[in-house]
Amino acid sequence: MKDVFDHIDGNLEARIEQLNQWLRIPSVSADPAFKDDCREAAGWLVEQLNAAGMEKTEVVETGGHPAVYAEWMGAPGKPTVLFYGHYDVQPAVKEDGWDTEPFEPEVRDGRMYGRGTADDKGQVHTHLAAVESLIRVRGELPCNVKFIVEGEEEAGSEHTEALIRENGAKLACDVVVVSDSPMFAEGYPSICLGLRGLAYGEVVVDGPAGDLHSGSFGGGVANPANVLTRMLAGLHDADGKVAIPGFYDEVVPLTDEQRKAFADLPFDEADFLNVTGSPAVAGEATFTTLERIWARPSIDINGIVSGYIGEGAKTIVPKTASSKLSARLVGNQDPEKILDLIEAFLMEAAPATVKARFIRHHTGHAYLGDSSHKAYVSARKALKEAFDADAVEIREGGSIPIVATFEEVLESPCVLMGFGLPDQNIHGPNENLRVENYHKGTRSIAALIVALAE
Ligand code: BES
Ligand code: MN
Ligand code: MN
Repeated sequence: MKDVFDHIDGNLEARIEQLNQWLRIPSVSADPAFKDDCREAAGWLVEQLNAAGMEKTEVVETGGHPAVYAEWMGAPGKPTVLFYGHYDVQPAVKEDGWDTEPFEPEVRDGRMYGRGTADDKGQVHTHLAAVESLIRVRGELPCNVKFIVEGEEEAGSEHTEALIRENGAKLACDVVVVSDSPMFAEGYPSICLGLRGLAYGEVVVDGPAGDLHSGSFGGGVANPANVLTRMLAGLHDADGKVAIPGFYDEVVPLTDEQRKAFADLPFDEADFLNVTGSPAVAGEATFTTLERIWARPSIDINGIVSGYIGEGAKTIVPKTASSKLSARLVGNQDPEKILDLIEAFLMEAAPATVKARFIRHHTGHAYLGDSSHKAYVSARKALKEAFDADAVEIREGGSIPIVATFEEVLESPCVLMGFGLPDQNIHGPNENLRVENYHKGTRSIAALIVALAE
């Protein structure tokens, strides 16, 4: 690999400059104001893939933000790798607490800062860079390579899901490779074997026709904020368990062996608390922190709004209260069924003194890879070569719903190896990717392509 690694090392600075061009395009999928930027980000990638030596490159229309497809199929008889990632990013403005402009990337203290550095443009760029170095140095790739990079992962991948279902033959491959997750810790190259699923919903509680004087009416009609908070409080019991009947039915319990493997990882609770800023860990009784976030389902209230929150006091009974909430899922929990359960539980908990309704949002299935597949042997070898350290097997609590779709439609294993760090701050201010991990990440992707061909 020395020839290819030398090329990667020698081009690091130029590549960061190239990545910065992409990061400067604010491809926020959630906000229609950035529609043209999304298209521009897709076009930018097609050009670069083309320049890297990929043979067929195209912007693919989806009905939503376009996706990017590319292929190099010059190695008949050799395996085919499909690289997946997303060029869309979460919204960001400096006022959210960024030290610098989110769409003006810069390197400070060995880290690239900017929206999309870790989630996911910077990581997709390792795939592009690895392929380009292999083609430049060796004149060809040792196996066949395809890319599918979408523009609406952060918005639920609805059109991408349809795209994959309609293009099973075009996307056919022996292994899917995704870099859209963090490493366990600095110095621990990681293979992520599990992701949690997602079920997102919203509950609205309406009371009086308008805000009322809380002296004249308080205590005489139901207060939607009082009612909603009581309904939401019922979601968990005193042990931190979700109190919805049937919620855990399809959870697959951890084996003793899996619990031991989690416990053997050098998890540092102080570091974890440091990243979160929370005063203490919390969660379902009788489970460790890693078990809670990797292998147990959870329900979180993502936001609550009601009534008056301005300066001073305003004595009212608010007319309405609402909350967005999401469940993270594991095992065979069916996201649609879980939404049914949450809806039924909340509607049951709503008294007849208010009008309550439930709105369903997006969903995604959990994913658990089979670590015995030979693709993981190649992944471990590649990570060792690039990082000079043994890879650890981890899971993640986040969700990439399209991974389960790949598994179902393409029937190929999915190797998740990402290069961010636990304090990468994706979706938040000062999102970052360590330059060294971007660099070693590029090396590992190149080594993986070579190892898969062996
Ligand atoms: N890259 C993340 C998923 C992720 C986060 C994996 C943390 C591992 C660790 C992805 O871009 C993401 O943000 N997914 C969303 C779900 C999506 C349907 C909006 C998530 O997890 O909330
Ligand atoms: Mn992502
Ligand atoms: Mn994300």
